[in-house]
Amino acid sequence: MHSIIFATNNKNKVDEIRSVLKNSFQIISLKEAGIDIDIPEPYETLEENAREKSNTIYALTGKDCFSEDTGLEVIALNNEPGVRSARYASDHDFNKNIEKLLLNLNGIDNREAQFRTVISLMLHGKEYQFEGICKGIITSAGAGSNGFGYDAVFIPRGSNKTFAEMTMEEKNKFSHRKKATTKFVQFLTDLNGKD
Ligand code: IMP
Repeated sequence: MHSIIFATNNKNKVDEIRSVLKNSFQIISLKEAGIDIDIPEPYETLEENAREKSNTIYALTGKDCFSEDTGLEVIALNNEPGVRSARYASDHDFNKNIEKLLLNLNGIDNREAQFRTVISLMLHGKEYQFEGICKGIITSAGAGSNGFGYDAVFIPRGSNKTFAEMTMEEKNKFSHRKKATTKFVQFLTDLNGKD
């Protein structure tokens, strides 16, 4: 089985991607690979940050790896928080980030937003990228306790529940990460077929 390092310290992301990949590929988390670093995200775009993460791990290990960077893009806020989603109000404090988002949207009718994921794959030293988008709306108050990040205030188009009110299987029917992962898996599967 093809094994590949996932350059993230976010356990939720590892679980979500494993639930999509099932047994087709063996995903090795940074922890399992014995790598304990905080990978920098210094750039202004998801694409550059995703590349930075996979390049960093490739330079360290010389092994095939991938990373992903995700942002919540809110139309009425000029696509903010976007690349700064994790540190919008406070570094990785989901409650504070949600509070700031709802405050900034207070009184604004246009609640349209999208999650956008970019996966960067480093395979035999060459980089490939895959994008996944999930459109939806931001609620006026949080609901649900599953998931992470902005899940409690995001309702994907085609549902009346927030991501945080869904099981992982339900979230995967809509999710940005699932869409990007599906493209990435298809690419690896096609490649394996050619071996
Ligand atoms: P990063 O890709 O780790 O930089 O993630 C950016 C931030 O976006 C995370 O800290 C979360 O706040 C948010 N985020 C990423 N993916 C999701 C998701 O699937 N649901 C809700 N929030 C997410």
